[in-house]
Amino acid sequence: MNNPSTESSGNTPLIEVREVTHAYHNGAGIIPVLRGVSLSVGHEEMAAVMGPSGCGKSTLLSILGLLLIPSQGSYRALGRDLLSLSRSQQAEFRRKFIGFVFQSCNLIENTTVYENLEFPLIYAGVRRSERTPRIRETLARVNLLHRLHHPSNLLSGGEQQRVAVARALVNRPRIILADEPTGQLDREHSQLVMDHFEQLVEEENIAVILVTHDPQVASRCHRVYILEDGVLSVAPKPGTLPPDSSMRCSP
Ligand SMILES: Nc1ncnc2c1ncn2[C@@H]1O[C@H](COP(=O)(O)OP(=O)(O)OP(=O)(O)O)[C@@H](O)[C@H]1O
Ligand SMILES: [Mg+2]
Repeated sequence: MNNPSTESSGNTPLIEVREVTHAYHNGAGIIPVLRGVSLSVGHEEMAAVMGPSGCGKSTLLSILGLLLIPSQGSYRALGRDLLSLSRSQQAEFRRKFIGFVFQSCNLIENTTVYENLEFPLIYAGVRRSERTPRIRETLARVNLLHRLHHPSNLLSGGEQQRVAVARALVNRPRIILADEPTGQLDREHSQLVMDHFEQLVEEENIAVILVTHDPQVASRCHRVYILEDGVLSVAPKPGTLPPDSSMRCSP
């Protein structure tokens, strides 16, 4: 896939989602989760999505990561209409342009930290001689270089989360989607991860969308969205957020 030719760094948002709806179907029936969600995120912008547990934040992020296809709506990014692409074109777009931090880390079992970061580079066709310096540099950014050859299942929860962040960044994506990337981190490491995101946004013209329950993390974002009752709205402004985001979510 070539670099998107129709992308404009002018006023066109890097990500534009319009009226996305999504419902899950299970044995008990239909569970509507998103009821017409719209958002746009610009180049060099960091946006937070907050909201009560179970309101659909991970569902929204999965849609943005092309891991889940919404029931309705449109989704454009980097000048492309992503929902009109085939599944293999979507997979290629995801591999080239999106870095995804899963809520549950999802590190590969029985592998080292190095191997977890090397896998996406191999998949992207990065040459062996380039892989090691890139892995070392990315791990250093999250303060984990000393764990380079450590088995990933022997890391602490917070260390695993930082490996998950590093793995999402190692391919130098244009869009970072991070599902509670600081949820298991202490304040110092949480700030370290946010510093790194901030630096990438400023220096590399990328966009970050992160899900968080932490008002301090959200306050470092340019824009904060609240997802509630299946609808996304822009929070008045960072700093006026509730002390925690455990608002009630209606069924
Ligand atoms: N695969 C699925 N099948 C059926 N229902 C699902 C599925 N995944 C999620 N749900 C339901 O959809 C709703 C939204 O889930 P989601 O994981 O997006 O919430 P969330 O806002 O990320 O919550 P949390 O803050 O706890 O991570 C929940 O009611 C959940 O039970
Ligand atoms: Mg979630």
